[in-house]
Order: sequence, then structure tokens, then C-alpha cells
Amino acid sequence: MPEIADNGRTWILSGPTSSYALHLTEADELIHLHWGPGIALADAEALAALPLSERGASFESPLDGREEYPVEGGPRFVRPALSVRTDERRGTEWSYQDFEADGDELRLRFRDAGLAVTLHYRMRGDVVERWTTLRNEGERPLELLRADSATWTLPERDDWRLSQLHGRWAAESRLTRSPLTYGEKVIGSRRGHTGHQHLPWVALDTDATEERGEVYGCALGWSGSWRIAVAQLPDARVQITGGAGYDDSGLLLLAAGESFTTPVFAGLWSDAGFGGASRTWHAYQRAYVVPDAEQDRPVLFNSWEATYFDISEEQQATLARRAAAIGVELFVVDDGWFGARTGDHAGLGDWGPNPDRFPNGLKPLADTVHDLGMQFGIWVEPEMVNPDSDLYRAHPDWVQFQSGRKRTEFRNQLVLNLAREDVQEYLWEHLHGLLSSAPVDYVKWDFNRCFTDAGWPDDPYPQRLWVDHVRALYALLDRLRAAHPQVAFESCSGGGGRIDLGIISRTDQVWTSDNTDPLDRLDIQHGFSQIHPARVMAAWVTDSPNTQLNGRVSSLRFRFVSAMAGVLGVGGDLSEWSDEELAEARRWVDLYKEIRPLVQQGDLYRLRPPAAGSSAVQYVRGDESVVLAWLQAQRFGEPVPALRLRGLDPAASYECRETGEVYRGAVLLHHGLRLGLRGDLDATVIRLRRI
Ligand code: GLA
Repeated sequence: MPEIADNGRTWILSGPTSSYALHLTEADELIHLHWGPGIALADAEALAALPLSERGASFESPLDGREEYPVEGGPRFVRPALSVRTDERRGTEWSYQDFEADGDELRLRFRDAGLAVTLHYRMRGDVVERWTTLRNEGERPLELLRADSATWTLPERDDWRLSQLHGRWAAESRLTRSPLTYGEKVIGSRRGHTGHQHLPWVALDTDATEERGEVYGCALGWSGSWRIAVAQLPDARVQITGGAGYDDSGLLLLAAGESFTTPVFAGLWSDAGFGGASRTWHAYQRAYVVPDAEQDRPVLFNSWEATYFDISEEQQATLARRAAAIGVELFVVDDGWFGARTGDHAGLGDWGPNPDRFPNGLKPLADTVHDLGMQFGIWVEPEMVNPDSDLYRAHPDWVQFQSGRKRTEFRNQLVLNLAREDVQEYLWEHLHGLLSSAPVDYVKWDFNRCFTDAGWPDDPYPQRLWVDHVRALYALLDRLRAAHPQVAFESCSGGGGRIDLGIISRTDQVWTSDNTDPLDRLDIQHGFSQIHPARVMAAWVTDSPNTQLNGRVSSLRFRFVSAMAGVLGVGGDLSEWSDEELAEARRWVDLYKEIRPLVQQGDLYRLRPPAAGSSAVQYVRGDESVVLAWLQAQRFGEPVPALRLRGLDPAASYECRETGEVYRGAVLLHHGLRLGLRGDLDATVIRLRRI
């Protein structure tokens, strides 16, 4: 519940450890007051009483760096969160209307001629959710050039540092940290999907470590093009502005009576270091974002790296029998089961089973899989079409294109224009039909190319397909989930090209990366874990040498322990695995099932980062804890340094389930645990239970 000052002009939202406060001045300017440790209303009022600026100069604005949502126009020079154009003018000069505290949500309403702007705030745990709604209450269309979700303001500090997660295909979510300098650092995607290049997340700190110090984090829940700009202003103040769309040149045309609700831009403050910030993000997503997060995800098998496009019913049934024998709980047939899809050149768009490969449809295989005691899943890529498909031959105008221009292909495919209602209806009918025609429990939903010639002839500018594609995707997922509540969904986009809070609120897990090399994965997982929980992070054990990427040879032990840090899957060609390998795999899967509640629901402590050469993570839940540790390469016979554990009770004793040895909590916390890792690519799992 927001706290409100008597004069109705100062508001505080508080979570278990933090507060967020804002204030409306006598001149109706909406000013940021505080984001950090918990404070009282009296503290916020004391902050509100301070003058806006101590310096006066005709070249600086006292509002810059202070406002909650800087609009374009008036005495401001910072990047505007809102930029609106009508036939008559550009910019916004709003006046304050009123506020409303509705449960845990605070709404502040403003108005400019014909435009209603509402700023929304909601505290969930220690995460502040912010978003904005814009409504055209006039009679003429309004052009939203830019409509960000929120602007975050940091307290004055010296030497801010920026953390971000950058990447590319097969190398996603890699953490980098650099000093923030004057000017702006802009990350985003102009590709129509979240993109492999950056996760929509930033963190700012000055001197935090993994377990100590102040960290601010912001993450955007939008699965289309997006932008986050981190600005260090001339007086060193820092603001972070983010929202849908990359450019300032036109997000949406708002017809009379129409509204636009921005995605949520969530933010948190933690004084428990990067690890504490991550745990707060994870707890927030498990509690408020991920559907049915309290249910553990099953161990899956995925056929992609095992059989690529060369699949048949009998061959998949053989794999399924082997998968069931090692303890797999969900069997997923990847690409190649539908239309004329015998390679990546054809078939996308035709969502019926390939009659040569599945003469009686998918049901016989689904029944086999179910008889083996597993759930059955399939791969789809609904937003795409191959020009060589029945769908494209029938509807060449259903794709995104510009009149008279080339239709650029990537992976021999084009993007369907999901802003079109006929396309939406086609996809609904075919996917709903598919899920009704065979007992399907799981859908891996892929998206394998970026937007390029994103046009819609005859639709006025700015064209709505960038925003409406995402809205249509969300609506389709929502509709399918409602009609088929037993079906779980995985978000995939050539690996981790569509991972954000928006898609995570509609899917049960995400495909982290097409890179299944267990060593590279440690870095990818380290970055991923900065924001998202292990509960959604799918990871497969594939073949050695690695076929997808680099030919690296690694033991089954190393591959399993790497993948067991998330939602375990197996993606190797089990028909080639020896009896010994299958037996070993069975033991790892059994072990994973035991530690699964800790991994998927527990608190994560990153004990040592992959860059250190040996690395480890620890999950803690109640009286139990598990450590997963890896050694890349031992040098000079040096033992791996003892690992100091976290999250344990110093006064308690813990029994190691692997060795039966008993350790004092205080000793594990302060002096650490010896691991005995040796050689190259070694790994271990250590379970501890409080006694
Ligand atoms: C993408 C996915 C892979 C696989 C292929 C199938 O690359 O990331 O896991 O599903 O598509 O074509």
C-alpha cells in the first residue's frame, strides 16, 4: 500500500527492505525523491522540502535529472520519455489531474490537450514495477514518436559502474561491467524481437561485490524492439529511461479514443551486492511473473541436436524409449515434423504433420511417449513462413514487406505480419487445431530471424506492425494457454533471442542458447542468472564432441553438472550412447531430480564466477543446500581454492550427502569447502543437509 502525505503530494512505496518516493511540487512538477533503503514519510517530506537546484544558470534546467517522467517540450534538455506529435504541435505540456491508490498500485494522472497520461507504480517485494498508459481523448490522431515506460533516477554518487548482458547468436547473456561516463549509453534491439545482442536489463553500482554493496537494477518486459538509455547528465546525475521501440521516429499512431499501455519497466535496489540483487529478481519472477512457478519443470529430451531435420516416427519412438529409460519426463520433437519441412528451405507456415514422416499424424508418437510415462512436446515457429510453403503461395501478402522492394530472407524465411487479423486468426485456428488433434503437453515456440523489411503497404505511418506484432504474439499465447491450460510453453528464438520479463510472464521456461557446449554455457548461465531464475533456464546435455558449435570433447559428468544448474534437459543422440553412458546418464538424472527443488526454487549464490577458471554456484532452500562446481583446466597441479559457502546457519552442522562427512556451518562460511577437482573439465555436485 502506498503511503501518502496529508497534502496528497508526496508518495512512498515500500517493500521489505526498500522504499521509493516521489513528489509533486507546488508548480505540479513530478519529482523523484528517493530510491533505496526503507524510509518514513517524514524523510520523504524532508527531501521534498529541499530546493530543486542550488545553482542557477540560464543554460541548465532545474528539472533535468529530477523528473519521474520527463516529457518532450518546456524547460528540459534530457532525453524525453514521452514525445508526441499532432498536426499542430510537438511535445507535451501536461497538467496534473489526480492520483489514485488502488491496492498496491499508485496511479498519477496528467492531461495535455486531448492526451491523458497515467503513470503507474506498483511494489512487488522489493521490485518497483512502473508503466505508463496514454490515451487519445481528442478527436484527431496523435503520433507517439516515443512512449517509454519509465525514467529511473539514481542518487548522487561518484563513479557509477554499468553492468550489462551482451551477446550474439550462440553466445548470449555475457556479463560485462564498465565505468559509466558522461553522455548516454544506449542498448536495445531494432530487430522486432528482444534480440541476442542484449538482455533488456542493466545494473548500476559504485563499489558493490557479489555479496555486498548497493546495486540498482532495471529490466524491461517487452519482446519486440526496445531501448534502454543510461544517461550521466552534466551534473553527474544518472537517469535510466526505457521502453518499447528503438528509434524516436514513430512508435504508434494513436487514433481518437485509442490507448497504448507501455510494457512494465521494473527496477530494484539492493544493498546485498550483485548476488542479493539477483536473488530479489529471482524471487520476484517466481512470485509474480513466471506462470505456475511453484511447479518444478520436468527433465526433457529435445531431438534437435540428435536428429536435426532428418526425423521419422519410428526413429523418434526409439529415442523416446531410450529417453524414458534414463529418466526423462518430457519428450520434445523439434523441427522437421510438419509440412514439407525436410530442411530449412520449406514448410514453415504449414502446421500439419508431414504425411511421409507421420502418416497417421502425431497422435501415435504422442501415445507411445505417454505410454512410456513421459509428456509429449513439439516445436513450432508460428510467426514465420518459408516462401516455399502452401501458406505463402496462398497469401504472399501476409508477410511484412515494403511495396516494390526486395523481401529479404534469413534462413530462407520471411516474417508474417502478425498485426493483420487474418494472420492472427490463421495462427489461432492452426495452433488450436494442432493442440486439439494430438495430446500435446509442451510447445517449444521459436522465432528464427529478425525483422528487416518491416512494412505493411497501405497502413499509415508510423506503422503499427512493430508494436502490434508483439501484442498479437502475447494475445495468441494468452488465448492458447487459456484454451489448453495443460500445455506448457518454451520461448526460443535461435536460442536466447527472446528472453525478457514480457515473454517470461507467458511461458514456462526459455531456451537459453543454441550453444550447448558445457563450458561456454557456464558464462552464459552466469550472465543469465544476474536477472532470471534457474527455474526458467533450460539447459541440455548434448553429445561429445559437441556437434552444434565447437567439437569440444567433455565428459558426461561435466556436461551434466553444467546443465543441472538450470532446468535439465538431454539433447544428445541417445541411439549412439553406449549402455555405460546411458546408465551414467540415468544416475545423473536421478540426482538432478533430488536436487531439483533446490535448483528451481531455492536461493542462488554465485560462489565463484567462470572467469576464475574454477567456478561454482550454490542453491539453498530450507535446511538443504547443493553446490555445483566446475574446473576448466588445472595448472601446475594447484588445488582448486576452498569455496566459501553462503546462506548457511553458522551455528548449525551440515552433513555432506556424498561423503557422510559433517561440517560446521561457521567453518563452511568462513573457511570453505575443499572440492578435490582435478585435471581438465572436471565437475562435482555436493549436497549438504542441516543436522
Ligand atoms: C532454432 C532453435 C534450435 C532448433 C532450431 C530448429 O535454432 O534455437 O533449438 O529448434 O531452431 O530449426
